[in-house]
Amino acid sequence: MREHRIAVIPGDGIGPEVIREGVKVLETVSKKLGDITFEFRYFPWGCEYYLKNGQMMPEDGLEKLEKFEAVYLGAIGDPRVPDHVSLRELLLKIRFGFDQYINLRPVKLLEGVPCPLKNKGPKDIDFVVVRENTEGFYTGVGGRYKRGSSEYNRLAKIKKTFADSEKIVTQVGVFSSEGVERVIRYAFGLAKRRGGHLTCCTKSNALNYSMVYWDEVFKKVAKEYPEVKTDFAFVDAICMWFVKNPEFFDVIVADNLFGDIITDLGAMIQGGMGLAPGGNINPDGLSMFEPIHGSAPKYTGRNVADPIATIWAGQMMLEQLGEKKAASMIMKAIKKVLKDSKVRTKDLGGTSATSEVGDAIVESILKM
Ligand code: IPM
Ligand code: MN
Repeated sequence: MREHRIAVIPGDGIGPEVIREGVKVLETVSKKLGDITFEFRYFPWGCEYYLKNGQMMPEDGLEKLEKFEAVYLGAIGDPRVPDHVSLRELLLKIRFGFDQYINLRPVKLLEGVPCPLKNKGPKDIDFVVVRENTEGFYTGVGGRYKRGSSEYNRLAKIKKTFADSEKIVTQVGVFSSEGVERVIRYAFGLAKRRGGHLTCCTKSNALNYSMVYWDEVFKKVAKEYPEVKTDFAFVDAICMWFVKNPEFFDVIVADNLFGDIITDLGAMIQGGMGLAPGGNINPDGLSMFEPIHGSAPKYTGRNVADPIATIWAGQMMLEQLGEKKAASMIMKAIKKVLKDSKVRTKDLGGTSATSEVGDAIVESILKM
């Protein structure tokens, strides 16, 4: 018997509703296979916790999580708390705190799912975005500088609007050789395992320091992977090709911010935010799995949100834990329910409840 200890953070908004279905599905595979069990420990952290305690998680929150093999997260965000506070103090704190430097986001259109792109089907949309997850514009480096301060004076020399302004505001993208190289190397490894090719997504035509550097590191690491075909594409062009020629892509590596942006577009071409999972991975440490959608406050408590992104994130968690068989059962069940097209939530044109989709996936696993 293999036991896995999972920390569950249902979070805010629809988070608890979708996580409930995810946990239900994990418990079902455990029951069905008989050789794995899960110990789920729930942490009631999030905006409600913040409103009561003045912080998103306790001071020793990260230490508490350290004892687990993985974190399973619903969603974070509530209109009563500024997003940059709630997210930086919980979601980003965990990503950075555990050095989860890979954000793995599969973009895969499954059969039975309506695709907004004309004449594109499951064969055309099947790629993975490897997003850097701990650096770049998310580092929180920058500031607001008032006229007269030394930083203001330094920046004011750059151009007239700066010099004419009351204040100058910066948000600096900070990249390290270690940080850039490890994510690119991971992406090459993945592309090699998939037998495919790797696209380097940057913006080195405009961002002359960070992205030119990124391209250089990519070329250097490419030499170690002669079997992986490579290409370069600017992030704006990638947006165009996601719509025009999504079949071109296999694995894409991008920095934190560009990876964030293109995966919302990726989610849409795979059928919507309700179907897009993600893993925040530290290959040598504690990883966290979550749907890439937010807390969707207006749907809270209505049992209408699509739980598939979260269930799929649970499937990715099992893969990371080395539970290949359990993971493939969940994937099969997700595919079956989507292909049958009988039970589906409103985002996919259906009328089923969140819990009914979870039930259908459970049922499909039990029949295997
Ligand atoms: C995501 C989200 C987060 C991000 C936000 C909520 C901070 O959009 O996981 O993609 O930008 O990383
Ligand atoms: Mn995002």
